[in-house]
Amino acid sequence: MCGIFGIVTKEITDLGPILIGAGERLSYRGYDTVGAATLPQEGEIDLRKDAGRVQEVAEKYNFAEMTGNRGILQLRWATFGAPSKTNSQPHLDSDGDLVGAHNGNVVNNIELMEEFRAEGMTVRSENDGESCVHAVERYVDQGHEMVEAIRLATRDLEGDYSFVIGKVGEDRLYAIKMGSGLVAGVTDDLVCIGSDLPSILPITRKIVRLYDGEIISFWADGYEITSVEDGSRIEREPQLVEVSMEIAQKGGYPHFMLKEIHEQSQVAGELLKVLDNSPDLEPFLEKLRDARDIYVIACGTSYHAGLLGAVFFNKFAGRSAIPVLAPQFAAQYGSAVGPDDVGIFITQSGETKDVINTVEAARARGMGVLGLVNVVGSTLTLISDLHLPLACGYEISVPATKTYLNQVLALLYLALRWGGKDTGPLAGIPEMIDRTIEASEEQLDPIVEQVKDWDDLYSLGYGLTYPVALEGALKFKEITYAHCEGMLSTEFKHGPLSAVTDGYPVLFTAGPEDIPLIVSGINEVTCRGGQAIAIGLEDSRLEANAQQTLTLPRPDLPEELVPAATALLSAVPLQLLSYQVSLARGYDPDFPRNLSKTLTVD
Ligand code: F6R
Repeated sequence: MCGIFGIVTKEITDLGPILIGAGERLSYRGYDTVGAATLPQEGEIDLRKDAGRVQEVAEKYNFAEMTGNRGILQLRWATFGAPSKTNSQPHLDSDGDLVGAHNGNVVNNIELMEEFRAEGMTVRSENDGESCVHAVERYVDQGHEMVEAIRLATRDLEGDYSFVIGKVGEDRLYAIKMGSGLVAGVTDDLVCIGSDLPSILPITRKIVRLYDGEIISFWADGYEITSVEDGSRIEREPQLVEVSMEIAQKGGYPHFMLKEIHEQSQVAGELLKVLDNSPDLEPFLEKLRDARDIYVIACGTSYHAGLLGAVFFNKFAGRSAIPVLAPQFAAQYGSAVGPDDVGIFITQSGETKDVINTVEAARARGMGVLGLVNVVGSTLTLISDLHLPLACGYEISVPATKTYLNQVLALLYLALRWGGKDTGPLAGIPEMIDRTIEASEEQLDPIVEQVKDWDDLYSLGYGLTYPVALEGALKFKEITYAHCEGMLSTEFKHGPLSAVTDGYPVLFTAGPEDIPLIVSGINEVTCRGGQAIAIGLEDSRLEANAQQTLTLPRPDLPEELVPAATALLSAVPLQLLSYQVSLARGYDPDFPRNLSKTLTVD
């Protein structure tokens, strides 16, 4: 996800190394282009930018030689416009005396670009960061001062964003927070802003918190905060921040995993915006509609998302899709597929060798290759016919959490669109994720106590919740080192039931459509002395039959969508359960032994 940084120093100084340092600190957020600009008191803005890694671009364009006392840096994670030099940020205005860069999404970007062109402005890219600059230019050209022009620009820009902007001939920069992260920092010699604390902490611990709807204008030894709403001045003193760099990168959470679980609502919202505006969505759906057979191909957690996607496709589009673990594809379907078939390859990293090998096998048979992928610029994004991004930013913790949820959400979105149904109600999902996290955290303690000392347990689900149970089991194994087997609940009686002894824990993830079957499964366990733990919407049948229940808040959605949304949301308590049991057993959930985030080996 994008990151911005801006700085104004007292003396003319070597800004290049400072900007490169900020870029490196922002890079954990995920990005595919890098750009820096310095603004002189007079003369031309020095703007250098391109696609690539921070070190690569900085070296190629010699950022190190950039000097001045006002500088901007931006890392861009592509949403509007491909990751190219032109679409890299910062952007200039029409006559090159304003330069700015943003973080977030301006959702009416395409309409705005048309307006700007019609008004005679020079639009150079497809990127919504450029829209922020022209939106300010529009009002500067009408004679407004910068702060007022930025205030007026917010009326034109729709979405969640923050941006930093400066003008030739002045001594200051301006930044605005409208839904995306922004903090400021001060020392005796400079004032700076950044998308997050880690980008500015090594420079200063004197931090000025900024809130949505605020503009900060800052110069070498001062700043002013203005309310967007009524233009009034806001007084706010800097505060000394004590947190370490590591905690700051974790946003105050003790582990990346917990941070990433809590980010799920934000990235779900981001994904929905990206899908609503993606020019690749219709062509993607077209390929699905035209396909003879559709295979959903992935590994691990991504495979579980694909399995749930296949249930969504059946439910909402009335079409079948065949989920298959990537390395098994050639053996099971290799000779049967051809040019009329399509594979949806799902991968967080876009690099998993098992998946990439299967793309090659599918290509050799002439199959269409579609991707659902998180890491922009990864191998799968380069070798697929079309791909849709998962819009999660970097996932640092080894166990996949936010990328799983966005894979599931993307598949639900595709299924609804394919079935000609309204995706509008999905806008409520981000808030429901937060409510589910809250409800789970309130109820988990006794369940953690119940399972934490068992080295062996089962996680069962049925229908829509079968893939969720598999995912819950994988997460549990991965970070608690206990054996947890995921299974279709009705299969349990066909053998594994013999494992049940006194107090043996079995997790049941229950969808609202399948309560009677789940209740049967619960009783098969409890009548043999086992401990049944049920996760589902409030239901007296679950409460009456299971020893422990974790009640999920009911999704506020049209009835038709409730079971699918429940399946999506019920992964959240299972993620949190694994996290808490991992801690209770004394492990580091972020970096489980023997595992790697990106598996580029067979
Ligand atoms: C589990 C996990 C792995 C990955 C699998 C595929 O938490 O993260 O099971 O899902 O290694 O990785 P990607 O999605 O990068 O292809």
